[in-house]
Parts: sequence; C-alpha cells; structure tokens
Amino acid sequence: MEFDIKDLNLAQKGKHRIEWAGRFMPVLESIKQKFAKEKPLKGVRLSACLHVTSETGNLMEVLKLGGAEVVLTASNPLSTQDDVSAALVKYYKIPVFAIKGENDKTYYQHINQALDVRPHITMDDGADLVSMLHSKRKNQLPDIIGGTEETTTGVIRLKSMAQAKVLSYPVIAVNDAKTKHLFDNRYGTGQSTLDGILRATNILLAGLNFVVVGYGWCGRGVAMRARGAGSLVIICEVDPLKALEAVMDGFQVMPLKDAAKLGDVFVTVTGDKNVIDTRHFSAMKDGAIIANSGHFNVEINIPGLRSLAKKKRLTREFVEEFILEDGRKLYLLADGRLVNLSAAEGHPAMVMDMSFANQALSALHLLNSADKLENKVYGVPTEIDEEIARVKLDTMGIKIDKLSVEQKKYLADWKEGT
Ligand code: ADE
Repeated sequence: MEFDIKDLNLAQKGKHRIEWAGRFMPVLESIKQKFAKEKPLKGVRLSACLHVTSETGNLMEVLKLGGAEVVLTASNPLSTQDDVSAALVKYYKIPVFAIKGENDKTYYQHINQALDVRPHITMDDGADLVSMLHSKRKNQLPDIIGGTEETTTGVIRLKSMAQAKVLSYPVIAVNDAKTKHLFDNRYGTGQSTLDGILRATNILLAGLNFVVVGYGWCGRGVAMRARGAGSLVIICEVDPLKALEAVMDGFQVMPLKDAAKLGDVFVTVTGDKNVIDTRHFSAMKDGAIIANSGHFNVEINIPGLRSLAKKKRLTREFVEEFILEDGRKLYLLADGRLVNLSAAEGHPAMVMDMSFANQALSALHLLNSADKLENKVYGVPTEIDEEIARVKLDTMGIKIDKLSVEQKKYLADWKEGT
C-alpha cells in the first residue's frame, strides 16, 4: 500500500484519538452498522480530500466498511493530525497522503497521488480534487460518478464552475444541509476558533475588543462564543442583511477601517481575499492578534504584512511576531491558515458527527441516483437531512412533539382563519 505520512510510530496514539472521537459520533456509528452489513459502496473507488482529523478517521472507516476503496489526502497543509494519518495507515489499512506543515508542492503532489487511484467519487473540503480533475487530469473525468463538497468555500467554487458550464459531474453540497451548516459552521467554528486562539496564545478573552470579520454562519458562531467569553465583540460585514442581523443580535457593527483601530483580536471568516489588508495593519494597536478561520489562507494579506515589517520571529508555536517600522508588534496566528484546525483540533466530534453522516449518505445517494443527476451542484436531499436530525436527537435522548392530524390539516388549509 502506498502512503506518505509523518511517522508510523504515532499510530497507537492516533487510534486512541479516533476511538475517542467515535464515542461522540453516534449518527455516523448507526450508518457504520448499516454499511458494514450491507456493503452499499462495494466496488466504488473514493478519493477524499478532507482535514485529516480523528473525526475524519471515523468517516474513512465507515466508507471502507461500506465496501469502498478509500484514499485520503489533506485539504489543508496545516490541518493534518499526524497521529491520525499513522493510525489510518497502520490499523485501518487506508492509504493516506498528508503531513502537517507540508509545503504547497507536497500538498498538490498528495492530491495527485489520491487521484492516481482513478476514483469514481470525490469527497472534497474546498474543491481541490474537483479543481485538479478539471484542470490537470481531465482524462479521468469520464470515470467519475459524482462528488461531495464539505465547505462553503468549496460550494462557492463549484457553483461558479456550474454557472460557467464547466462542471463535468454532479456534486452534492453537503455544506448546504441544515444538519451541516447550522451546527458545524456555527457551533463548531465558534468553539474551535476560540480553542485555536487560546491554545496558540493563552490570552484572557474577557474585556478584549474582539473583531469578527464576516457574519455568515461561521462568523455568527465565533461572535457568539467570543461574547460568551466576555469579549466586547465588533462585527464587520459587507452584506446589509447580515450587518443588520448582527446589530439586532446586539453587536457593534462598523467598517473594518474603524474596527482596525480598536481590535485586540481579529478573526476573518469571509471566504474572500485580502480582507484584512495593509491599511488595516497600519491602523492596528500594538499587540493586536490576527487569525483566520476561513478555508483558504488568503483572507489576511500576509505578503502585505511582511512588507510592512522590519523584523519577524516565531514567538510561540503558531504565533508569528511582526515588528513594524514604528515599533508596533502585530501577531499572526498559524500563518493565516484555519486557526481552529492548525492550532487546535478542529470542530468537536459531536458536530462532525452530523457533517460526516451527511457525507456518507450523500456518497451513497450519488451512487444510487447516478443516472438521474446532471452536472450540477445539488443540495443534500431533505429526507437525509431530516433523518440525521432525528437520529441525532434520538441519540441525545431528546424526544419532541408530533403534529396531530387536525394540526396537519390546518397547516395545509388556506381557508381556515381565526
Ligand atoms: N473541519 C472543521 N473541523 C473538522 C474536523 N474536526 N474534522 C474534519 N474537518 C473539519
């Protein structure tokens, strides 16, 4: 079996961590039982480009038990948990191509290695497999039944491919499932982003001005949790509806040029480029901490920050100090890569349970509906989304009410008023 990982000796630790995460993934566990019995993915070659974490380890196991031949590569050069990749290779016999801290060349080499198996299904977090297949490996496109996409950024890329009519196979936007983005993006990113910032810096959040740039589901989660930790939260937004929502959620809202002067901590979660730029660095206070929790490391203009600095050094793991011409010091976390996955462990298994249940069931749905799907971006079928919510509640021991026949009839009848 071919693989490229940091160190096989880390496998035992990785196995324990995969098993620990599995304890908090009961929905995925229920799919595992079914897949192991029925082998619905038998004969399918599946290449996954996901953050290599203990939660992803559980998903890989489920897909393999379902009969698929799986191979895993990282969806970010800094998010890999090297012990997990070792365990997947040694104990689960799953080929992994991922090393934490790999350079861009190795990152793309690993993506190519994951595609060398000539997959029928691609499973992406950020659309790098789709992008590679459509640019440099077009000859493989006829093999592909379809793909799934985990994240907002990937879905945006795919929708623009579909719009330009260049997307050559159907993709399910897992991110668009309610059981994904309402929980993973909000509560997952909210908690894990603070976790990453705290592990990297060990600062006290209470009383700090905490600037969140972007008020999508991830931004809402980060803002909510930063407020819970006692920070004074400022939101910067370009979308008037989201900005209004932030105002009525009780946050201060202002342009980044004004927030730049006030912030002690800045977090970008926009999906866009050069959101924090040189003019903002120039206005920041001495000691400001800057982090990103969006998918790509483009949200903070790092070359711009470098150009303003007369000196830089790594002060702690994941904390780079930039000394500007006037002596102010700014601190960039985790090279501007996803701080929650680089400096911490990503979202807790409790939410990844639902995200990855969507992934597993979407892969099966692709297989079962291959002849009906066009080369478009599809949502996760509502039945799958609702079933995941039902099973999740059930595993949490939470019961809910049901509509009576009379209530159902009332909701379907436009004639009845007061
Ligand atoms: N994305 C965010 N958190 C994650 C995790 N724990 N595992 C895989 N992908 C993630």
